[in-house]
Amino acid sequence: MVKVAIDGVQHEAQVNELLIDLINRVGGSVPHVCYHPQLGPVQTCDTCMVEIEGRLVRACATEVADGMRVSTKSAKASAAQVEAFDRILSNHLLYCTVCDNNNGNCTVHNTTKLLAIEHQKIPFRSKPYEVDNTNPFYRYDPDQCILCGRCVEACQNVEVNETLSINWEDPNPRVLWDGGSTIQESSCVSCGHCVTVCPCNALMEKTMLGHAGFLTSLKKSALSGMIEIVKGVEPETGYGSILQVSEAEEAMREHRIRKTKTVCTYCGVGCSFDVWTKDRHILKVAPEHGPANGISTCVKGKFGWGHINSEDRLTTPLIREGGKFRQASWDEALGLVARRLSEIKANHGSDSLAFISSSKCTNEESYLMQKLARAVIGTNNVDNCSRYCQSPATQGLFRTVGYGGDSGSITDVEAADLVMIVGSNTAESHPVIATRVKSSHKLNGQKLIVSDIRENEMARRADLFLHPKPGTDIAWLSAISRYLLDNGLAHSKFLDQWVNGLAEYRKSLDPFTMEAAARISGVPEETLKTVARMISEAKAMCILWAMGVTQHSQGSDTSTAISNLLLISGNYMRPGTGAYPLRGHNNVQGASDHGAMPNMLPGYQSVDDPEVRQRFETGWKVKLPSTKGLDNHQMVEAIYEGKLKSIYLIGEEMSIVDCNANYVAEGFAKLEFFVVQDIFFSNTCRYADVVLPGAPSLEKEGTFTSTERRIQRLYQVLEPIEGCWPDWKITQEIANRMGTDWGYQHPSEIMDEIAALTPMFAGVSYERLEGYKSLQWPVAADGTDEPLLYIKGFAFPDGKARLFPVSWIGVTDAPDSKFELHLNNGRLLEHFHEGNLTYRTEGIKEKTPDVFVEVSPELAEERGIQSGTWVQLVSRYGQVRVRALVTDRVQGYELYMPMNSVESPVNRLTSSHADPVTNTPAYKETSVHMNVLAEVGQSPLPRINSRFGHPTPQNGVEVERKWKRPDYAPPGNGLVQLQTNK
Ligand code: SF4
Ligand code: SF4
Ligand code: SF4
Ligand code: FES
Repeated sequence: MVKVAIDGVQHEAQVNELLIDLINRVGGSVPHVCYHPQLGPVQTCDTCMVEIEGRLVRACATEVADGMRVSTKSAKASAAQVEAFDRILSNHLLYCTVCDNNNGNCTVHNTTKLLAIEHQKIPFRSKPYEVDNTNPFYRYDPDQCILCGRCVEACQNVEVNETLSINWEDPNPRVLWDGGSTIQESSCVSCGHCVTVCPCNALMEKTMLGHAGFLTSLKKSALSGMIEIVKGVEPETGYGSILQVSEAEEAMREHRIRKTKTVCTYCGVGCSFDVWTKDRHILKVAPEHGPANGISTCVKGKFGWGHINSEDRLTTPLIREGGKFRQASWDEALGLVARRLSEIKANHGSDSLAFISSSKCTNEESYLMQKLARAVIGTNNVDNCSRYCQSPATQGLFRTVGYGGDSGSITDVEAADLVMIVGSNTAESHPVIATRVKSSHKLNGQKLIVSDIRENEMARRADLFLHPKPGTDIAWLSAISRYLLDNGLAHSKFLDQWVNGLAEYRKSLDPFTMEAAARISGVPEETLKTVARMISEAKAMCILWAMGVTQHSQGSDTSTAISNLLLISGNYMRPGTGAYPLRGHNNVQGASDHGAMPNMLPGYQSVDDPEVRQRFETGWKVKLPSTKGLDNHQMVEAIYEGKLKSIYLIGEEMSIVDCNANYVAEGFAKLEFFVVQDIFFSNTCRYADVVLPGAPSLEKEGTFTSTERRIQRLYQVLEPIEGCWPDWKITQEIANRMGTDWGYQHPSEIMDEIAALTPMFAGVSYERLEGYKSLQWPVAADGTDEPLLYIKGFAFPDGKARLFPVSWIGVTDAPDSKFELHLNNGRLLEHFHEGNLTYRTEGIKEKTPDVFVEVSPELAEERGIQSGTWVQLVSRYGQVRVRALVTDRVQGYELYMPMNSVESPVNRLTSSHADPVTNTPAYKETSVHMNVLAEVGQSPLPRINSRFGHPTPQNGVEVERKWKRPDYAPPGNGLVQLQTNK
């Protein structure tokens, strides 16, 4: 700690603390327009001038020092602040009363007030550019742009999409997209970072425009007239009275604009933000305080909410009658569900029923679903979609370190000096985590190794890109472990102290020589040795992996090999280290955590452990089944075997997302009674007997658990649309109609019950999760959580990790002469899975309207294919018709098809082969033949898709270029020397 005097008052400050942060922390008031704590010093606005020992410095770019005496209000400092802000106002018209940004948080407005500016010395100068309205989600108004560069900094160094810059050398600087393109035709991925950090109305969400203010929906001509009036009265009245009027208008807005915290409904990163609403209109998503994301979002979380008010929402229960659906009342539908489930249980036994919870639903909802299955029906036949993606990773961690979750936090990934990504298209599937890696790699010298069969964005950025043959990761990962051990590069002290099973494990590595690994994987030995060297040299390494690993027939073993490698190299138990299986859905972690699994009660407590069962039996006052139930995969088989008669499924598009989709759909058609609960009439609903309209995340309360085991509250942003119920209420009502008396009034009561029965969540409560507070499990009864696992030991009785031997078996469904092409599949940035939610956002649909298959340039040439050529893909299990996209992201005979289609889902082509340990389908082991059809359409990706843009990487806003302008001089009349650098 150091001592600093600010305006004569002594304060304690942290070494390295920025002066601006100290001033703000102690309640001081120095203007600052370009500074944003999550962007760091940008140094473009010069408004934060303070005086230290007679020198003017920027408070945002100055670190505190012991004995420092700072004046924020000296004549020199004040004059410089005002002069700097005057320059800003020459770039901006203050028409706050008719501005949609007049919501109390406009930095330009607030600074005008803080500095008590009455008149502008430098007159406003319009810039010779048109407003850019081309992007569907936001617009840029150059005339309102104060050139603070926050947006550029955010795009270049936080999001690291590197689209934005400012042409400082131009007579009329402005923000540029791709150096001068329209927004729509640029590389902008519409993540919204720039809009979020813009301190004024230059960048604004289109959903705000004309909606936020009382007078802002006026016609443009009327609006211009009012702006002229404001300009006209300013010379006489000064800004003070103008601001008073606008503040009165702002106060009125407070009564009708609601700001409600929620957690993103899409991926497992767990971004949280306030949603601003006016009635049911979503004005904007404002990320600010999220513990996982700060100011970050991707396009889905920032702008992808079209599904909420979609006219396609289910708003009434449906009952199948005579082969057709008819509308029904809730009373009738719930009565029918309860009666039929009871009848089937009575006639065929409890195990003839099965339950599938949704990883889009809340923890409390998954808990109730498994409670319904176990306590009311008496079966362990309950699962969730982690079976399709995450179970193998969980298994690999259970085997080796004990907890089935990320071993640290996103901040550890950020802090690592080496990140290895295996089989994860992180920039598209977990975009905000990718931003942290991209940023650390760009700015902090973090090293990046990527292994993938497709050259995705992270691969292009990597220091080392490995392209192994599909499904062979286990071989090269194990060979690296062996190489480290054999060459004295393993972390022997760590192994001695913390790890069991080394001798047996080393023996199991015998087949994994570098030579064998190179032969199996196709990655040259030299490259593998480079990987080994980089790992051994790294002080802290994280490994990130996802479905490119888990959706293979050896998904569990490969995940195990990853964790083995982390143990061999000593990369657990410290900040910046660990295993990060990136969870797909927003709450796929939580669905499993809360017991929607056939073998585990909540908190990964085994159903065959009598002590565990006893606890739940006492709590629930019922006898519980002790044998493991059916997982999703086995449920489908059991339908065909005639053993399973009924499924109650919440929010899963299982007829499309399960592998071998035709087979699954035909299975559903055989069920005696099928209940589907969803917010839209999904493809799976077609097979249902009863469809129940649930509620999306914005219409309910509860908690989600993100990939970093972070439990976060979501608050109800909107009332459920009339006719829809929050899913927990539906499940409760079904249970009660079957003879129970659950009486939960609010999800917090469900969480209290979970905490009481589950040691892992003992200290979780809604109070401890208030607002933006969060907890990363396990949570002790006193509320202590564990952002970084295993600090004191591994989650086994002796506290030691276990090396777990694995072997190489080979892939299923390999290419042959008939099905000669390998088909990979995965996500797209813009769409979530099949797109049931994201296609309902017009802007997303406009930019990414359809599915496609990526074809390599070499294959395209060989087969006479161009982007837009229709092809038919035929596998051993089905066929789809789709347009080709020729791209060098894929090579040779390897194809890639994203999942974003209900009409041509890739899973019509995938097999029923599965990882034998978890029954996770081997989606990524699919071979196809491609018939080129005569028809050639337009490219399936329009020109306005960001993938066609041309980013302009640079090191942030590059303010030095501004300082070099001949017309730039630091404010302060040259009376004092300006310190320009930190
Ligand atoms: S990618 Fe686009 S939306 Fe995201 S920060 Fe850059 S310019 Fe803004
Ligand atoms: S558009 Fe960018 S440079 Fe202009 S005011 Fe907004 S954040 Fe600052
Ligand atoms: S989809 Fe994922 S990365 Fe994007 S905003 Fe939502 S949680 Fe964040
Ligand atoms: S806040 Fe803009 S230069 Fe310091």
